[in-house]
Amino acid sequence: MNDLTILASSFDKIKAYIQANDDPSKTLLDFKTPAELSEVIDFKIAKKGVSENEFLDLLDKYLEYSVKTGNKQFLNQLYAGFNFPAFIGEVFSVLANTSMYTYEVAPVATCIEMEMIRLMNSYTGYTNGDGIFLSGGSNANLVAMFSARNRILPDSRVEGYNRNEKLRAFVNENAHYSFGTAANLLGIGTKNVIKVKADADGRMQAEALEKAIQHAISKGEKPFFVAATCATTMMGTYDPIDAIADVTDKYGIWLHADGAFGGSLILSDKHRHLMQGLERSDSFTWDPHKLMNIPLICSALLVKKADTLQQNITDINTDYIYHNIDEIEDLGKKSIQCGRRVDAVKLWFAWKYFGVDGYRDRIDNLMDMAGYVEEIVNSHPKLRLNSKRQSFAVCFQYIPKKRTNVNDFNLAVREALRKTGKSNVNFGYNGSDLVIRFVAANADLNKADIDRFFNYFIAEAQKLENE
Ligand SMILES: Cc1ncc(COP(=O)(O)O)c(C=O)c1O
Repeated sequence: MNDLTILASSFDKIKAYIQANDDPSKTLLDFKTPAELSEVIDFKIAKKGVSENEFLDLLDKYLEYSVKTGNKQFLNQLYAGFNFPAFIGEVFSVLANTSMYTYEVAPVATCIEMEMIRLMNSYTGYTNGDGIFLSGGSNANLVAMFSARNRILPDSRVEGYNRNEKLRAFVNENAHYSFGTAANLLGIGTKNVIKVKADADGRMQAEALEKAIQHAISKGEKPFFVAATCATTMMGTYDPIDAIADVTDKYGIWLHADGAFGGSLILSDKHRHLMQGLERSDSFTWDPHKLMNIPLICSALLVKKADTLQQNITDINTDYIYHNIDEIEDLGKKSIQCGRRVDAVKLWFAWKYFGVDGYRDRIDNLMDMAGYVEEIVNSHPKLRLNSKRQSFAVCFQYIPKKRTNVNDFNLAVREALRKTGKSNVNFGYNGSDLVIRFVAANADLNKADIDRFFNYFIAEAQKLENE
C-alpha cells in the first residue's frame, strides 16, 4: 500500500463529500438495514490486511452509507452542519495527536484551551472562574454534580458516600437524563434526583422548586444540587435562572446551569436575556459541538470558583506524568480523565475564522430560522404547533383529514422521509402526543432549506392522507 496515494485519493473524496453538502439534489442517506449493510461492507478483520484499492473502497463505502449530517436536511439532532474551519482544526489536532494532560506534550493546545476557557467565561460572567473541556455534556453534568457533592461532603472523596446523608438533587422534569446517570455513578441514586414539575411551557418555576426543597428538608433530606436547564432537549425552553438562583442562594445549594443544548445562546446580544442570572450559578455546561457546529466532541464545564475542579481530584501521585517543570499548572490535574482529546483546538480555529461577531450572527440566524419554521407551521392549515416555541426547537404535528391516529400518522411521514433520505427530522413525546421536533442547529440554514423541508414533509403527508 502506498500511503501517499491513499492520502491524495482521500483528499478528492473529502472535497467531493464537502461539496455535496450544499447540493440540494443529494439525499442524506442511502438507508440500509444492518443485514443489508453487512452485505455491502465486510466488517470483519481478516488475518491479512486489505489491498490499497480495497482500503480506498472501504473509505468510499463508509461515507456512502453514513448519514450526511452536513446536508441541510439533517434536522434530527442538536448537532448538525459542516463547519469548515473546525473540521480543519480537528484534522490538524489529530495529525499532531497528543493528550491534554501536560504542557510538556501539548504546549500549544494547553494555551489554546486556557484561552477558550477564558473567553467562554467572559460570557458566563464568572470573573474568577475556570473550566475544562471534557467528553460531552452528560459528563460535564456529572462533574458538576460531583463538584457539588464534594463541596457539601468533602470527606466523601476519601471515605465514600454514605446514603444516610440523604443528598437530594433537583431538576426540571424535562431535564436531560444525564443527571440520573450522574446520581447513579456518584452513589446518590437515581430516585434522589427530584423532578420538579414544569409549567405549561416546560419551564421549571422557582416556586415549585422551593416547595420541593422545603418538602425534602421537612423529611430530613439534604438538598445539595439544583440544575436549571438552558434549553431543554425536546422543547428548547430556558429555565428562569435568576429566580432559581434566589432559591438556591436562600438554601445554600449548588446551582448548575445545563446549557449543553442552548448554552451557545449566550453569544447572542439579542437573545442572551433568556439566560439572565447565569453569573449567579456555580457551574455551567456548554457544548460547542451542538449550536456552534464544532465536530463532536467539543464540550466544556465552566465553574465559578477557580479551584473547584482541582478540589475534586485527590490522588495525583503520578510523577510519571506530572513533573512540575514548566511554568504552568498542567491542565490534567483538574480533570477526571487522564488521556484527554484536544477538543478546544477545533473550537479555537473556528472562533478565529468567524470572529466574535461571526459567531454572534450565526446564533442569531439559528433563532431567526426557528422563528421562520414557527411562522410556516402557524400559517399552514394542516400543521399545528404543539408547544410554545422559545428557542431553537419547534414541535408540531400534521393533523390529517381522516380520523387516523395522529401519532402514527406523523411517525409514518417522518419515517418515509428518513428512509428515502430526503430529510431527517426527529420526533419525541409531549405528554401523549408524538410530535415532530424541528431543530435549527445548523447555523448555515436558510429559508430555502426550510421551505424544501416543508415541501417534502407536506408532500409525504398528503400522499399518505390520500392512500
Ligand atoms: C439539555 C441537555 N443536557 C445534556 C445533554 C447531553 O449532552 P451530550 O450529548 O454532549 O452528552 C443534552 C444532549 O442532548 C441536552 O440536550
